[in-house]
This record gives sequence, structure tokens and C-alpha cells, in this order.
Amino acid sequence: MKLLVINGPNINMLGIREPEIYGHQTYEDLVKMIEGYCRANNVEVEIVQSNHEGVIVDIIQSAYKKTDGIIINPAAYTHTSIAIPDAIKAVSIPTVEVHLSDISKREDFRQHSYVSPVCVKTICGKGFDGYSEAILFLKDTILNKSK
Ligand code: DQA
Repeated sequence: MKLLVINGPNINMLGIREPEIYGHQTYEDLVKMIEGYCRANNVEVEIVQSNHEGVIVDIIQSAYKKTDGIIINPAAYTHTSIAIPDAIKAVSIPTVEVHLSDISKREDFRQHSYVSPVCVKTICGKGFDGYSEAILFLKDTILNKSK
């Protein structure tokens, strides 16, 4: 089973950006945590980060027929992008949306996600644990579907 983890703009700045919101752990720490968690759960994983909407669309398109599930933190594009949810719909790969912070308790402009409606699940406000929850959720859903 293969998962693709996509992190959007400024997620590479974890540990530096607004630590009171996103914590002190770095992007490298996040990558190591996801790799370790996937290894322990027998899941193959590819982890990518981009600050560019079009690049994220390209990455989603290239996952077509190559990946069993996607975990995406679209970061600021959550609240602005139509191209990203369109790409997720186009490839029809089960996708979980993850946010480190609880966007429902933040500024008004973060209240709406264009990505949520095309995702099988949204996890918010659980920090790095949101990614492990998403991995287990996709593993369970995908394995149950193939039974
Ligand atoms: C975020 C929440 C977004 O509103 C914000 O633009 C981010 C990170 C999160 O993980 O909490 O960059 O997606």
C-alpha cells in the first residue's frame, strides 16, 4: 500500500513560523515522524512539499494510478484554491485533509475550506498526530475496501 503526503506553502517553515500556533518542531521532524510511522505500519510513503499551487496540482495528477491514498495539508491554498480540489476529484484517490491547527477556531478567512468537500476525512488541530491519524484511517479504509 502506497500513500502520498503533500504539504503546501510555508509548511517547510515549521519550527520557525508562528511557534505559538504550529509548535517548535521542524518540517524535518514532521518528515521523520511520518516516515517512521509508515514504516511501523507497513505503508510505503512519498512525502513532498511545495509553495506553488500549480506544482501541487502536478503532483496530484502524477499520483493517478500510482498511489492508493493521499494526505494533504494544502495550508493557505485550503482557503483559496479551486485547482487543488479539482485535481483531487480528477484522480479519484481517497484523500484526507490535515491541518496542524484548528482552523475552525482561527480567523474568519480560515473558516472555509475548498478542499474538504472532495476529501474522505478532515483532521484539524491535532498537530503532527493528525498525520498519523490520517495514515491509519487511509490504511483501514483502503484495506477494508480490498477485502
Ligand atoms: C494550516 C492552516 C492554514 O490556514 C494555514 O494557512 C497554514 C497551515 C494548518 O496546518 O494549520 O499554512 O493548514
